[in-house]
Amino acid sequence: MAKEMTQGIILSLGSVNADFQVRVDQKIGETTTVLARDFRRLSGGKAANVAYLASKLGAPASIIARVGDDDLSLQALGALKEMAIDLRHVEKVQGATTGFSMIMVPADGKKNIMLSTNANDAWEESDHQKVRVAIAEAPEGSVLVVDYEIPAFIVEVAIKAAHEKGFSIVLDPSPPVRVNKALFFMVDYIVPDASEAEGLTGSRATSAEEGKKAALKLLQDGVRHAIIKLEDGGCVIANAEIILHVPPVEVEVVDTTGAGDAFAGALAVAILEKRTLKDMACFAVAASHAAVTAYGSQPAYPARERLEELFDQISAKVKKLHAK
Ligand SMILES: Nc1ncnc2c1ncn2[C@@H]1O[C@H](COP(=O)(O)OP(=O)(O)O)[C@@H](O)[C@H]1O
Ligand SMILES: [Mg+2]
Repeated sequence: MAKEMTQGIILSLGSVNADFQVRVDQKIGETTTVLARDFRRLSGGKAANVAYLASKLGAPASIIARVGDDDLSLQALGALKEMAIDLRHVEKVQGATTGFSMIMVPADGKKNIMLSTNANDAWEESDHQKVRVAIAEAPEGSVLVVDYEIPAFIVEVAIKAAHEKGFSIVLDPSPPVRVNKALFFMVDYIVPDASEAEGLTGSRATSAEEGKKAALKLLQDGVRHAIIKLEDGGCVIANAEIILHVPPVEVEVVDTTGAGDAFAGALAVAILEKRTLKDMACFAVAASHAAVTAYGSQPAYPARERLEELFDQISAKVKKLHAK
């Protein structure tokens, strides 16, 4: 497998949050008070998670985001500082509250998240220049990973600026209601989960066949590679030439929080390392697999060795799908 590093970096634009996470044994919503345990205060948010994994895998990462000037920002940024992630483009907005997630993880690991976007939405129209500058100063061969948990106009500015620089663009279309398909011709990789795929294409990706249909629709809409994350942990990846199904391998599911962000982060690293399409997909699937096997988002992210182990198992199972 080629591991040729370029000079590029991972530019991670989107949400940075303080995560408050608990385990719950009861079904949520049945009683007024739900008893919880294993309370943790963690760093989270999509852009934070993506940069964290990239950095853990040895890729240089820089975050473009907004937090508040409050104590929650220390929680959100602490783990990122420890990873030596470039935070020069993370602005503390005066008087704002840092983005906040309340995460409840039931026994099956399928988390419930309540997100208050707070400072993540504290961007003004006049801030577009700051985003442009952050992207303009990144070296050739960089990869922009962006989600929609920030105002859509900032996503748009970033995609245009990265496209002009010839950077690869990975879009996490979450939440799908904010997504502007007019930008898709500039998007190199889109990475919806099954429900986001439904929001974008109208058909839910409940199987590899359904995932393929959703992927083909997204290609028609103009993206270069459509990657549908399936609920079983596998994915379908399609471009104009080829469609691949990466089936899951069995792992013990502890907590799925942040597994999709691990997918996006690992994909970005694989792009930076100029891996093949098949290897990119397997690397990303390996990362999301590892992420579901432990509690929390960032604390569950794998080191490279564990990732390569899973990669080898997953890679052996990839199948080609036919367009019709
Ligand atoms: N049983 C499982 N085994 C492996 N991976 C799983 C399993 N269940 C879910 N996943 C993966 O977890 C990820 C969840 O992604 P997503 O819904 O985007 O989560 P988030 O946005 O919270 O990070 C997907 O990549 C999915 O394939
Ligand atoms: Mg996701």
